[in-house]
Amino acid sequence: MMNEEIPNLTAFDEAALDKAFGVVEQQAREAAAALSGGEAVEAFRLQWLGRKQGRLTEISARWLKVAPPEAKKALGQKFNALKAVVEGLLDEAAGAGPNDAALAAEAIDITLPGTRRLTGAEHPITRTLNEITSVFAALGYSVGVGPEVETDYYNFECMNFPPDHPARDTQDTLVVANQDRRPQRDRLLLRTHTSPVQMRTMETQPPPVRIVIPGKVHRNDAADATHSPIFHQVEGLCVDTNITFSDLKGTLDHAMKALFGSAVKTRFYPSFFPFTEPSADVQISCIFCGGKGCGKCKQSGWIELLGCGMVDPAVFAFAAEKQPAYDPKKISGFAFGMGVERIAMMKYGISEIGSFYAGDMRFLGQFA
Ligand code: PHE
Repeated sequence: MMNEEIPNLTAFDEAALDKAFGVVEQQAREAAAALSGGEAVEAFRLQWLGRKQGRLTEISARWLKVAPPEAKKALGQKFNALKAVVEGLLDEAAGAGPNDAALAAEAIDITLPGTRRLTGAEHPITRTLNEITSVFAALGYSVGVGPEVETDYYNFECMNFPPDHPARDTQDTLVVANQDRRPQRDRLLLRTHTSPVQMRTMETQPPPVRIVIPGKVHRNDAADATHSPIFHQVEGLCVDTNITFSDLKGTLDHAMKALFGSAVKTRFYPSFFPFTEPSADVQISCIFCGGKGCGKCKQSGWIELLGCGMVDPAVFAFAAEKQPAYDPKKISGFAFGMGVERIAMMKYGISEIGSFYAGDMRFLGQFA
């Protein structure tokens, strides 16, 4: 219903005011009763309570402002009563809650698909590294770490590398600059393997020791499909009385089966490392052809995976300088070191080592 204009008041006595307010209130009630739908309710609100052009504002301008002082109090009270009535009508029409417009703004369309958040996942290298360490943790090994910036002593000297060993050459090792005035053994370099942590562990812990050391290592190698100047290794060290080469074989055979499946066979191939004697390269039967011979194993049926050996007595002698219990006459041990990237590439059939570091979500997402 359209509302008539607000008339000007000519009398301000109680009866005249009651009549005038009564008419307006009646108009409001009729208008409210006819409302249907959110838009109509909003129009009603604007029409009656709108700040600038609402009818209550108009009443205030036409009646309150011009009323004689003695009528102002009664007029004010009736005005407030009318306002309460209009607000009540509005609440009722809007379902006694917030009005429809506000509701619509807050409404949730439960038929819309949800907002997807990307879930983080372990990087395939971290995952492989954790997998390897947990295989050994299950055998009772603890997990250790050591510094990536290492001294020549820990990286080479105590690991029984002779002073002129080619690995010490800056062609192979990344060294920290301006170390020339220091004695050779104190010069800093980026560790080329995790083996120095063998010595750091023995220096702080008497035998028996069973420890795996995952970590990052650096070599001055050019990057290609299978090499990266920065990569990861997991080192292992086991020292006790009567540790034999059989223990080494049994442990690594179990570990390779745990990592690649129980059908995998292992083979220990004579090798050399300055810090183990005897030394061996561990080969596993080719996981791609089952040992028949294929392109991946260069038709040999075997794939070389890690280095290992019995701890060289010369290494124990270095450890004994700080922990006399590492007496090579009384104890023995084995050590091994494996490249994490290489194992991850085998496990997941990845042919380019660079895929691990490129940060391409299409590649990484496959491991989520
Ligand atoms: N440190 C050796 C390497 O980086 C691996 C290794 C560790 C070999 C322990 C034997 C024993 O090649």
